Amino acid sequence: MKEKRTMNLDPKIFSSPEFLLSASKIEQMPKDEGLEIAFVGRSNSGKSSSINAILGRKSLARTSKTPGRTQLINVIRLTEDLRLIDLPGYGFAKVKETIRVGWERMLTDYFIKRQSLKLILITVDIRRGIKELDQVMISLAEENGIKVYIVFTKIDKVSRNDREKCRYQSLSLYPQHAIFFTSSLKNMGFDEVKKSIIDDLSLMG
Ligand code: GTP
Ligand code: MG
Repeated sequence: MKEKRTMNLDPKIFSSPEFLLSASKIEQMPKDEGLEIAFVGRSNSGKSSSINAILGRKSLARTSKTPGRTQLINVIRLTEDLRLIDLPGYGFAKVKETIRVGWERMLTDYFIKRQSLKLILITVDIRRGIKELDQVMISLAEENGIKVYIVFTKIDKVSRNDREKCRYQSLSLYPQHAIFFTSSLKNMGFDEVKKSIIDDLSLMG
């Protein structure tokens, strides 16, 4: 029997985003309904820039030269039943230990409890590659049935050879997950990301 589709899968889903709210706790987030796509990654890895590139907006998600700037969960509404989530980054050494542990616990909680969270995009600065904390997040997503995209960012900063090294690292660690190579500066790679989101949502709706 053909699967019932409830989602609005028009490619225009990205064209009228609305900033909904910033939450410091999961309890402050909108009702756990519909679908959520979250951007997860180390501080400064390009989560907020990727969201802006996908939405074609300059500053719907706030970007910063100072790592650790996004300390809140920012919720962007795409459609009635679809949200993009900009999460605080992890792994920023200069953040106070107590705050850091709090963030990491919050992320873990969010992954475990949030029923509507179906897809995470792990942003990885291509100059750094996939790090241990990224692997922890990816395992946590896998354990909770959340689909994972590995999104290398800032490809404008490296040679083709370095890019291939990251592709190899990603394929050897995670042959099962989709990988993308992007630059928000040069607006590269995001059409592929959007196309995959639309394709995957059609299977989840
Ligand atoms: P936190 O919210 O602090 O965790 O950071 P974030 O992951 O949201 O990163 P953000 O998007 O704020 O980007 C961090 C820095 O990297 C900013 O100075 C961006 O301008 C820069 N940056 C992001 N994407 C790119 C890119 O594709 N190319 C280049 N060259 N710089 C980028
Ligand atoms: Mg950010």
